[in-house]
Amino acid sequence: MTTNTSLNFSIYSTLLMILLSISTNTISSYAFSIREATISDLQLAFKQHQLTSRQLVEFYLGEISRLNPVLNGIIEVNPDALHQADKADYERKVEAPGSLSGLHGIPILLKDNIATKDKLNTTAGSLALLGSIVPRDAGVVTKLRKTGAIIFGKASLSEWAAFRSLSAPNGFSARGGQGKNPYVLSADPCGSSSGSAISVAANMVAVSLGTETDGSILCPSSSNSVVGIKPTVGLTSRAGDRCPRPICRTVADAVHVLDAIAGFDYNDPATKEASKYIPYGGYKQFLKPYGLKGKRLGIVRNPFFNFDKGSPLTQAFEYH
Ligand SMILES: *[C@@H]1O[C@H](CO)[C@@H](O)[C@H](O)[C@H]1NC(C)=O
Repeated sequence: MTTNTSLNFSIYSTLLMILLSISTNTISSYAFSIREATISDLQLAFKQHQLTSRQLVEFYLGEISRLNPVLNGIIEVNPDALHQADKADYERKVEAPGSLSGLHGIPILLKDNIATKDKLNTTAGSLALLGSIVPRDAGVVTKLRKTGAIIFGKASLSEWAAFRSLSAPNGFSARGGQGKNPYVLSADPCGSSSGSAISVAANMVAVSLGTETDGSILCPSSSNSVVGIKPTVGLTSRAGDRCPRPICRTVADAVHVLDAIAGFDYNDPATKEASKYIPYGGYKQFLKPYGLKGKRLGIVRNPFFNFDKGSPLTQAFEYH
């Protein structure tokens, strides 16, 4: 009898705990949460006056001070980030054209080899370039500023986009230290756009740009469980960096970022030819919520290349 009662009691208390946890989960899923929010979620929250760009930037600054000392995904935060957030909030308030859409008021992190002519350094992770002055914003940065995105800071990377040496670890740079995979700290974060992938995976920023010649977006996106897009050369301007492309938490976010940076740039002739093929209205029109329904996914179980350090094949295909 006693046993039964205590058994019943423990069953009831377990049930109660399950019910409680279900209801708390339900409640918290209704309240807006910045963590894991997509660009569409954030734009909706702006529109419904549930969130300001300043609050968003302040949230990420808090996460950076908590997580970045361990993860080393970010080298520098823009001292003007809060100022840019206030500007975006003001533009939204006066209903300036383009506010409440795209990347307006959204913080974006840039790999440290993407030139910005502002208070941020552009060093490819190297002490050798510290204090150097770039001639102008990279072509993609000009586009980002025009859309009203907040240039949030610079991401760590494999130094010199992995051209420092063949034996340097992925995600290491003299300025950024060793970038860590947020899912498994001891796992390889891959490179060279390691910090961009690490930082969106760990919710230290909304979206990011990396750069790729051969694998520098695809590999860190894969290793840190985020989404990278490598478009055809010329779709995004290479002026002021090396083939910048989106690294984000979701396919939809990556497409919104691609829409913001794709297109003609006077300083990269290849963009002239490619821009003819950009569909009117951009790429977001092709996003389908159930686009994967009925699709079969392939999983690569045997790597395409064997990256034994020092082999001629490694030297040819080293990620950068
Ligand atoms: C850029 O580098 C200089 C050192 O040369 C440093 O004083 C400054 O704080 C850096 N800028 C940012 C935004 O971190």
